[in-house]
Amino acid sequence: MSQPLLDIQNLSVRFRVYGGYLRVLDGVNFQVAPQERVGLVGETGCGKTTTMKTIMRILPQPPGVIKGGKIIFKGKDVLGMESWEVERMRRREVAMIFQDPTAALNPVFTIGEQLFDAIRYATGKEESDHRFLREVAIRALEEVALPDPARILTNYPIQLSGGMRQRVCIALALACPKELLIADEPGTSLDVTIQDQILRLINRLAEERKMAVILISHSLGVIRDWTERVWVMYAGTVVEEARTQELFAQPLHPYTQALLKCVPKLTGEGIAEGIPGRIPDYFDPPSGCRFHPRCPYRMAICSQEKPRLYGTPTHHVACFLYQEERK
Ligand SMILES: Nc1ncnc2c1ncn2[C@@H]1O[C@H](COP(=O)(O)OP(=O)(O)OP(=O)(O)O)[C@@H](O)[C@H]1O
Ligand SMILES: [Mg+2]
Repeated sequence: MSQPLLDIQNLSVRFRVYGGYLRVLDGVNFQVAPQERVGLVGETGCGKTTTMKTIMRILPQPPGVIKGGKIIFKGKDVLGMESWEVERMRRREVAMIFQDPTAALNPVFTIGEQLFDAIRYATGKEESDHRFLREVAIRALEEVALPDPARILTNYPIQLSGGMRQRVCIALALACPKELLIADEPGTSLDVTIQDQILRLINRLAEERKMAVILISHSLGVIRDWTERVWVMYAGTVVEEARTQELFAQPLHPYTQALLKCVPKLTGEGIAEGIPGRIPDYFDPPSGCRFHPRCPYRMAICSQEKPRLYGTPTHHVACFLYQEERK
């Protein structure tokens, strides 16, 4: 990859809890090229949202502790930024659509006030440019298919339904051009047709604005249709990364293979059994490869050493099964 837009190197994050630490992220590596559409998948609790919150510098600290690693965005060290630089990055460069839309809106301001504020910061316009702010805000609400945008501008978040609030959050994130959009389960609380509209909107804006996108979704169908490259996480580690088509055609990591088998097929084969066992306890995670207790192919080395990513330029896998052939 030429100079990546975002480069996460060996990121480790813990949460302090009663009696010790949850060692959640364990040396995560993750890159996104300019204008690339990347998918991030993995079982619930594997650390997807934690990784994204750390990029946005909104990881709650405490209980969160960044134990090590680097996040480089456009050549700048995000973890070393001053608060005004972080603010600028969030307002002008990186947008995030949150998994939990209610937590992302301020209950004491109207939707209009929150949208005008975001647009003002992103564009450098004054509060007196009311007409401009209103036009951009109404267009943003129309883009996410919200009816009667003029009325919605005067509403408080509590006056809207959950689905409407989620669309408002998407409008807030996408009202102004950004270079990277992090979409954490966008549209999960919306019906499928609206979810599809939202993904189309993200796709169109990504193309028009030359914006890179990180799409987090539990739906592997969504990931296959909307991304160019996929990263697979398991228990706070990246286990595989490949071009989307390649990953779906030939998954290499035993975890990815099992994950893809869990997708219900329309061919009458029924639903696969799922992956035996469950995600490990972060209090005392397995040594070596964190997947080894659940892995049907485990070898002695798997519990002793953490595998690095072995790979070709288009496909990387953290598994000792591929150590020899992919050196
Ligand atoms: N503030 C916190 N305090 C303690 N533990 C936390 C905190 N935030 C997250 N965790 C833990 O970190 C782990 C990873 O959580 P995270 O939200 O990143 O998972 P995720 O991959 O986004 O899952 P999902 O698919 O369900 O959204 C979980 O075990 C979670 O309990
Ligand atoms: Mg999450």
